[in-house]
Amino acid sequence: MKKIIVAITGATGAPLALKLIEQLNFFDVEIHLVVSTWGETNLLQECGVNYQQLCDKVDAVYPIDDMGARISSGSFITDGMIIVPCSMKTLAAIRNGYTDNLISRTADVMLKENRPLVLVPRETPLSTIHLDNLLYLSTLGVVILPPMPAFYNNPLTIDDILSHLAARILDQIGLHHPSAKRWQGLNE
Ligand SMILES: Cc1cc2nc3c(=O)[nH]c(=O)nc-3n(C[C@H](O)[C@H](O)[C@H](O)COP(=O)(O)O)c2cc1C
Repeated sequence: MKKIIVAITGATGAPLALKLIEQLNFFDVEIHLVVSTWGETNLLQECGVNYQQLCDKVDAVYPIDDMGARISSGSFITDGMIIVPCSMKTLAAIRNGYTDNLISRTADVMLKENRPLVLVPRETPLSTIHLDNLLYLSTLGVVILPPMPAFYNNPLTIDDILSHLAARILDQIGLHHPSAKRWQGLNE
């Protein structure tokens, strides 16, 4: 069974992380979760969901400061990592190999082991430092997928927007969720 690591950091966008976990649960995959301290705060503030409630929706959880967790080693085989939302602080840490918590360490493991790493960076506007960090990681093969909504599928609700974004994130790791409204061409 595939093992997918999901990390949630303290950028705004916790509802998208929840939607992603909901969609991931549709597939036959193991979900391994790490949440930063500010990720936990924003989850409660933006979704009214506490950390324990989120833990119940996944297969394994790791404390942010547990540098001894199995996902911090390349010898523990996983199939990729998604950081959603990804703060500019965590982005900077990954770009510089500054692995001071379990999220940046695990992302560093993805890079050294050549495993899929998908970042959903959230900030606006983006400074030159942010853009430079994003560009650099892109040259290493990291998928940079900012949570920009699409309108060609005529979303009516926030949930429609979140569903589409979550499905597009999962497309990047080869999991194609059936709820995605996929473009079929203008005239087909
Ligand atoms: C309500 C709230 C919203 C925030 N939104 C963002 C954001 O969109 N992008 C960002 O880079 N940081 C944002 N921050 C700041 C981060 O939480 C902060 O930089 C934190 O140190 C990130 O640490 P982490 O990556 O370990 O979670 C926000 C903070 C709060 C309290």
